[in-house]
Amino acid sequence: MRRICVVGSSNMDLVTRVPRMPEAGETLAADGFATGPGGKGANQAVAAARCGADVALVTRLGDDVFGHALLDGYRAVGLDVSHALTVADRPTGTATILVEPSGENRILVAAGANAGLTVEAVEAAADVLRAATLVVLQLEVPLEAVARTVDIGSAAGVDVLFNPAPARADLDLDLACRARFLVPNRGELALLTGLPSDRIEDVEAAARSLVRRGAGTVIVTLGSDGALIVEAESARHIPAPQVAVRDTTGAGDAFIGAFAAAFVTRPDIDAAVAAAVAYAADTTTRAGAQASYRDGPARQQHQ
Ligand code: RIB
Repeated sequence: MRRICVVGSSNMDLVTRVPRMPEAGETLAADGFATGPGGKGANQAVAAARCGADVALVTRLGDDVFGHALLDGYRAVGLDVSHALTVADRPTGTATILVEPSGENRILVAAGANAGLTVEAVEAAADVLRAATLVVLQLEVPLEAVARTVDIGSAAGVDVLFNPAPARADLDLDLACRARFLVPNRGELALLTGLPSDRIEDVEAAARSLVRRGAGTVIVTLGSDGALIVEAESARHIPAPQVAVRDTTGAGDAFIGAFAAAFVTRPDIDAAVAAAVAYAADTTTRAGAQASYRDGPARQQHQ
């Protein structure tokens, strides 16, 4: 089976449902609280595995209750965790997430052990990276490790999918544009390019500037509006099904994992984006990040 290697973060999500966002200095009664597995890297890996792919996750965890629980979850879903290792000196990453009734969220991340995903850690996983069909990256781990991953993957001729999330002003644009697939949301696209991304024509123009700079295909995720695929000669809009949104946390990661799984199985970009849009929309109808992911059709057939 063709394999995906995700290099990225693991977090325990600490999710509080709020009637509205609190003001500065205000104490507000919340509607509920839950913990659940998260982190952009792990979310994308778990979504890809749920969609039937063979997936390795390169990540770092603390040697604590959160870290042990996350690792158990990765094993349960069938990830290759040979490079999902604990570090002695840092706690597992956490994300404090406030979710409004509309499903919109605000997230605060404490990197913890994710800061331990160093260049050396990536180099130790080089064989796993080189054996992959597709390497998937985000920005919740040190940028030097991201750059080293792109170097190793590119030198081995492995396709790289780069998700520039969360948006970081210190990201080297040329590094991002070395990717076969560059997958930002509207906000990340605007920060990457310095161009507006409000109207769909703006999104296309900004994405095309990244293609001109070297990115293979730019896929802009548009939330409830689906996704826009932009290549040198064309732009195609893939709409999303309308659903009753409960929680958008981790929906972008679900999109990336589902796209990666579909693409390594059959390299048809439009079909893979359509599958990813549908998968991500479905996850927004349930609470949580990984907790909202279900097995896709490919995995259901094998069980
Ligand atoms: O993209 C959603 C993720 O962002 C959450 O699971 C949280 O851990 C933060 O990393």
